[in-house]
Amino acid sequence: MTANPLRDPRDRRLPRVPEPCALVVFGITGDLARKKLLPAVYDLANRGLLPTNFALLGFARRDWGDTEFAELARDSARQHARTPWREEVWERLAGSVHFVQGSFDDDNAFDELAGALSELEGSHGIGGNAAFYLSIPPAMFPTVLKQMQRTGMAENTPGRWRRVVVEKPFGTDLASSRELNELVDSVFSAEDVFRIDHYLGKETVQNLMALRFANELFEPVWNGHHVDSVQITMAEDVGIGGRAGFYEETGAARDVLQNHLLQLLALTAMEEPVEFSAEEIRTEKLKVLRAISLPEDLGAYAVRGQYQPGWLAGQRAPGYRQEDGVDPGSTTETYAAVRLGVETRRWAGVPFYLRTGKRLPRRVTEIALVFKRAPHLPFADTDTQELGNNQLVVRVQPDEGVTLKFGSKVPGSVMEVRDVSMDFLYGEQFTESSPEAYERLLLDVLLGDATLFPRNAEVEASWAVIDPLEEFWRDTEPQPYRAGEWGPRAADEMLAAEGRRWRRP
Ligand SMILES: NC(=O)c1ccc[n+]([C@@H]2O[C@H](COP(=O)([O-])OP(=O)(O)OC[C@H]3O[C@@H](n4cnc5c(N)ncnc54)[C@H](OP(=O)(O)O)[C@@H]3O)[C@@H](O)[C@H]2O)c1
Repeated sequence: MTANPLRDPRDRRLPRVPEPCALVVFGITGDLARKKLLPAVYDLANRGLLPTNFALLGFARRDWGDTEFAELARDSARQHARTPWREEVWERLAGSVHFVQGSFDDDNAFDELAGALSELEGSHGIGGNAAFYLSIPPAMFPTVLKQMQRTGMAENTPGRWRRVVVEKPFGTDLASSRELNELVDSVFSAEDVFRIDHYLGKETVQNLMALRFANELFEPVWNGHHVDSVQITMAEDVGIGGRAGFYEETGAARDVLQNHLLQLLALTAMEEPVEFSAEEIRTEKLKVLRAISLPEDLGAYAVRGQYQPGWLAGQRAPGYRQEDGVDPGSTTETYAAVRLGVETRRWAGVPFYLRTGKRLPRRVTEIALVFKRAPHLPFADTDTQELGNNQLVVRVQPDEGVTLKFGSKVPGSVMEVRDVSMDFLYGEQFTESSPEAYERLLLDVLLGDATLFPRNAEVEASWAVIDPLEEFWRDTEPQPYRAGEWGPRAADEMLAAEGRRWRRP
């Protein structure tokens, strides 16, 4: 076959369609599978991004057959998919979905699954390729991995690939994450392991790299000579939903700080990769994670909080200890904030303030670079009283985009300078809709592109930052804040002590 001269194989704008393959989801009846994974599979099919020879296998305990599973998949896709509903797309997909019933400790069920995969090679031409998604309670990882090893399902033989997708949390501390990594690496080879941090699948997070490395405007000021401080926020207005069991054991630092916030920090602070490849980008991120330093005085520069009853959007909200399933004396934190340093030439002396919390006033995730004040202002003090620091804000969600805040003259006969904003909004500039994070990441798994998945060393380096914090907090009470407020007072004091304050996004 001769290559199409109009198609440059390096042209990455062409739609990327994976080779024939199967996607096996363990825990297919769970919350994540229903809300995110099944809709993402439908969206990929709808955009024409799944191979013609494709099969979806679900595994769970429920006494179901293919028909019940197909119904669940259809309902989930109809309810949560991003792209419009098209019956003909669903009909095509419905012919490729299969359910295997069993418990994870049931050898027969895994033998059946292995058999089903071999059969699909013939009936659906999937070529032996398969990705296994562990959408299951983390405590079950070892059992399922061992079953895959026992049945030979994890083996990459010539001409076929086998990959595994692991959901966070990747352990609960450095020791357990090492153990988990060793276990996963003993069953799959490192390049076949995909650890999902769904924040990295978000368009704006990837745009951070475009913003920094495709432009001349920003990179020259992206350093401690010009940046006063960096604030990274992931705020949620909701409580813990029905996930008390999980949250009681986890808390805000393990749930969000260890993964999403440290990954955003790594992308913000990393050096330019030699090329835009998984290997190079992950190498640069790892260097940053290893260069992170905690404050010496954790009592002053790390704050944990817990929401009390309050008001949110005009409605009464219960306190954390009053939520269903939560211990009335619980000391689990629902808010965490910390001041970190990045010990590199570029960032020496620049504080990175990270915060996350539940039942805060707004759902917002953003990275804000706060610049130093101009070294000299040739105006009277009163002219610039309303002038703040210049800021570059990357809004990850919602209202994805970038805002630049700078001083501008107020119209009129006197010289008065005040802050104004220049906004780039994804939704306004592009007609293409962004894929949902899980859609993008699932596609990358099937393509074998690991760029947006943290490596095990990154996960371990992140736990090395969190462990001392957890140790310090172990016997302390979280600071109270009312639902609907921006966290405990101690978090404001942490910045005020250094003459700064949190943004109110
Ligand atoms: N939900 C989220 O939004 C979210 C967000 C980020 C990460 N995660 C991670 O994603 C994973 C899945 O979370 P989830 O919320 O979807 O959990 P979930 O709702 O509790 O679902 C668990 C699934 O695992 C199956 N399962 C559990 N024990 C089993 C066993 N012994 N044998 C066979 N199947 C078994 C259940 O099947 P049955 O129907 O048979 O019980 C169910 O399908 C977890 O690692 C979680 O930490 C979830």
